[in-house]
Amino acid sequence: MVPAHVAIIMDGNGRWATSRYLPRVTGHAKGVEAVRGVVEACIQRGIAYLTLFAFSSENWRRPPEEVSVLMRLFSSVLEREVSKMHANGIRIKIVGELTRFDPKLQQQIAEAEAKTAHNTRLTLTICANYGGRWDVLQAMNRMLAARPGHSDYTEQDLAPYLAMAHAPEPDLFIRTGGEQRISNFLLWQLAYTELYFTEAYWPDFGAAALDEAIASFQNRERRFGRTSAQLLEVRKAS
Ligand code: IPE
Ligand code: IPE
Ligand code: MG
Repeated sequence: MVPAHVAIIMDGNGRWATSRYLPRVTGHAKGVEAVRGVVEACIQRGIAYLTLFAFSSENWRRPPEEVSVLMRLFSSVLEREVSKMHANGIRIKIVGELTRFDPKLQQQIAEAEAKTAHNTRLTLTICANYGGRWDVLQAMNRMLAARPGHSDYTEQDLAPYLAMAHAPEPDLFIRTGGEQRISNFLLWQLAYTELYFTEAYWPDFGAAALDEAIASFQNRERRFGRTSAQLLEVRKAS
């Protein structure tokens, strides 16, 4: 089975560029091209949800010039790509602490989401100024504001307030660029996601690399705490 939801940490743009004696920003521009390819490949493979980590809450620590290039790139991608994505049936969601962005960018984000809200072919979620810890805390604060005075909140109570409430939990997580860490991506939602790490830098990641990740996913046994024998029983019964 193809995973319904793939979540990716797109890492290695900078190293892709510096290994070619190019400025890091060239790597980010190439990274945008890779996004186009992977979005298309997901649609062809019937993947319903693709979530991309574009900018973490910690990425503000980068040199200001790099941060401002990333912001401009984000804005120009929205300007150039939203209509095409809309025509391709893509629903765009941008999640993270968006108030930190400049008002014009916030406006573009709101417009992209509104325009594509009713599309059903692929839900593309971009995590921007996102952090997994921020997500759990903002959800908790909103839940407490909506239902104050309780002491017995459940996971189900919190779920609708999480930033990814519009999507099922990811089936497959991919991190490019060789690092094997979560870097404050979807902490709550990755609890039972299959993890896949590849050395490939993000600008080099395309349809063939995605297929390798999917093949690895298809060889995993997802037990969710049960035993293999129990899974066999369930399969026989159905
Ligand atoms: C990922 O590539 C893109 C962002 C974090 C915005 P990097 O810029 O982290 O690339 P490396 O890890 O330095 O190679
Ligand atoms: C993670 O990459 C964030 C994104 C890809 C947006 P980083 O390059 O920021 O992660 P660290 O700093 O190596 O953990
Ligand atoms: Mg990196």
